[in-house]
Amino acid sequence: MPSRSVLSTCRITLPKDLVAALAHDSTTLPDWQLSDGLLSPETAAHYRQALTGLPHLAAFTWTCDRLLNAPDGEGFAVLELAELLDAADTEEAGLRAVTALVSLIATPLRAFDRWPLWKPLGTNLAIDPMRATGSGYNPMHIDVVNSTWPPDYSALLCVRPDPRGQGHSLVSQVRRAVDRLSYADAELLTHPKYVDGAFFELTGVGEEWKPFPILDGLPPSEGFVRFTAKMLADADPADPYIKAARALERELVVGQRRFLLGRGDMLIVNQHLSCHGREALGTGQEDVPEDERRLLLQVFLRGQEHAAAKGGAA
Ligand SMILES: [Fe+2]
Repeated sequence: MPSRSVLSTCRITLPKDLVAALAHDSTTLPDWQLSDGLLSPETAAHYRQALTGLPHLAAFTWTCDRLLNAPDGEGFAVLELAELLDAADTEEAGLRAVTALVSLIATPLRAFDRWPLWKPLGTNLAIDPMRATGSGYNPMHIDVVNSTWPPDYSALLCVRPDPRGQGHSLVSQVRRAVDRLSYADAELLTHPKYVDGAFFELTGVGEEWKPFPILDGLPPSEGFVRFTAKMLADADPADPYIKAARALERELVVGQRRFLLGRGDMLIVNQHLSCHGREALGTGQEDVPEDERRLLLQVFLRGQEHAAAKGGAA
């Protein structure tokens, strides 16, 4: 499987004085409140006010914007947050600091009504290995693919890496992958012929789209390439629409970046530009106690230009 190492330029290390200031302020940051699944405007304003004047913040947000949103960029960034989490008094204070910091980039969105804002993704050996909490290969996809308005960004904070040293993250720039397809395959992907999974108890992601087209014809700043290789597993491999989707998956694999998230690393992916996935965790997971297996926290983000118009793009 061809792959390339992540470019070091996609990693963001916080300056030490910013870490110290954030850790200091984290003790007085309020708990977040949500409104329609989004960080409430009151909490967002409180966080913005609390962080105003901290050192290097403008450079931080500029760098995040460039890495995440440049149309010809990779569409992802890895924030190194271990020092901040270590410096905070408690886990809760550390997570509040991270939430406040991230809210400067985009507005945190829960999406799943039944889960907290930060959804724990542990490792469950009893479920389908390709699922987010499974232990196997999780192939290329965007999250909440079968909606009219998927989250603009999907983020994963690594609380505990796989003790077996595997489970590499995969990210691939999907717009470039589409550009490499034949005209015939790309044309097939514009038809609403694709279906994926269930859709219920979701807020802030529009409505269910079933069946949906993979290519929606919108510019990257607005539209998505609604792709998930998971929907292909049980599909007819001779179906021309499925063949075209497999062609896209092959191009995603050709262009994918592969890297390991360490403790405190947070991967943010712009879902308008990139797909993500995960390699299998290391062998022998059944010998690792469940509370020592890999643990991530997932949060979605809505672009600030969209958060103000809740549901408007649906
Ligand atoms: Fe995902």
